[in-house]
Amino acid sequence: MSEPNSHTGDIVTMDKIVALCKRRGFIFPSSEIYGGVGSTYDFGHYGVLLKNNVKAEWWRAMLQERDDIVALDSAILQHPKVWEASGHLAGFTDPLVDCRTCGQRFRADHLADLQCGRKPSKHPGEADECDLTDARDFNLMFETTIGPVKESGATAYLRPETAQGIFINFKNVLQFSRKKPPFGIAHVGKSFRNEITPGNFIFRTREFEQMEMEFFVPPGEAQRWFEHWLAERERWYTELGIRPDHLRLRAHDPEELSHYSSGTSDVEYLFPIGWSELEGIANRGDFDLTQHAQHSGEKLEYFDQGSGERYVPHVIEPAAGADRATLAFLVDAYDEELVEGAGASAGDRSAAPPAEPVVGQRTVLRLHPRLAPVKAAVLPLVGKDGQPELAREVHHALRGRVQAEYDAGGSIGKRYRRQDEIGTPLCLTIDHQSIEDRTLTLRDRDSLAQERLPIEGIAEEIERRVHAPWRTPKLSSV
Ligand code: GAP
Repeated sequence: MSEPNSHTGDIVTMDKIVALCKRRGFIFPSSEIYGGVGSTYDFGHYGVLLKNNVKAEWWRAMLQERDDIVALDSAILQHPKVWEASGHLAGFTDPLVDCRTCGQRFRADHLADLQCGRKPSKHPGEADECDLTDARDFNLMFETTIGPVKESGATAYLRPETAQGIFINFKNVLQFSRKKPPFGIAHVGKSFRNEITPGNFIFRTREFEQMEMEFFVPPGEAQRWFEHWLAERERWYTELGIRPDHLRLRAHDPEELSHYSSGTSDVEYLFPIGWSELEGIANRGDFDLTQHAQHSGEKLEYFDQGSGERYVPHVIEPAAGADRATLAFLVDAYDEELVEGAGASAGDRSAAPPAEPVVGQRTVLRLHPRLAPVKAAVLPLVGKDGQPELAREVHHALRGRVQAEYDAGGSIGKRYRRQDEIGTPLCLTIDHQSIEDRTLTLRDRDSLAQERLPIEGIAEEIERRVHAPWRTPKLSSV
């Protein structure tokens, strides 16, 4: 097995994740046949299924498991005044320097982490030949034009965060939902930022999906709800399998705080590049509703008919990235191990052909079963003697309940390895005995244990196992 990563002590590196994602159809560089566009990616079949599961778990935690949050899906193109009111037009900037020698652009506040364009062992500005300009502010919003003619159309922006779509709908939601603070509005959707230095695969890209929730509270309750959401969001990641020792909360220093925030903590994950932000949880006070009220002329406040009190709610915002969370789940799940072959792994093998047939190293994604793109794969041991037909029957029964796959191509060992690499928690193998007594072999991805089970009721059994409490086996190996 390869050397552990110096940041994390794990065998996972970003290069291995990138290679697995390409090899197994999770994520591809975008526009590859034209040479690619910097830092944009396309999600393939398993990537779509995985990211959808991440978003579904987020919606489940926000909507299904609570009754104080409602959903919203706002437009990407919003009135240009939205960005004036939010402060993005004036202040959503990064300091940028150009190098006149190599022609590259760098974030002035990240020079110590970046490589010189000519001498990668040095930072920009360190080599004798470097010739950096003074820093100037660069707005990160993508500009476009509404209307057919660029010259006479109105300038608009692709939203750089989903949060503002929530604030501008505060009044609509309050009227229809009959909610009163404390209550939240949750949103999942694409955001766009013209990042100067995107990178590290899907960690920082120019087009990405956010999962944001604005929680509106009486001003006096803001601190309590801030703490509530810190704990809730940390719990969400660990319940979905992230190792607690690879997750931490880090409070922002006062000079790091965004213009709207009176307190922010990041949920950080120990990526192969070191500890980095996974999600930000901010106390935004009444900044946004007050700004939009001033710029639009609409009253954005809550009137409590019981007490006669009128106030502008304060806002607690857990803001996560769907792509970044997907990357963290992939990284945390990635494992390599030596398989010692038939009979060597756990489980009762007495009645369990076919035993693990391959000796050697396997790569496995130990994803939480609820996140795994495919929950169960049905594999006929051979392509004859009625096995494919029975396997198809089992696959058909599963499909109504869970995402399942029928796989008949290649040796059984290769098929197990393939399912391991996409993180399929359960493989169902149909063999000669299955034809005789309508049983199958259930193989567990993590322990490699095999059990003989009746085909009758197998779909219900698989669904039960996918939703059973789960703990990553990587915890016991660290
Ligand atoms: N509304 C607050 C807000 O947008 P943020 O910290 O800028 O806060 C929230 O973004 C989350 O969105 C981040 O924690 C990260 O997960 C994700 N995110 C931000 N910029 C990103 C980018 N360029 N690429 C991928 N994900 C990004």
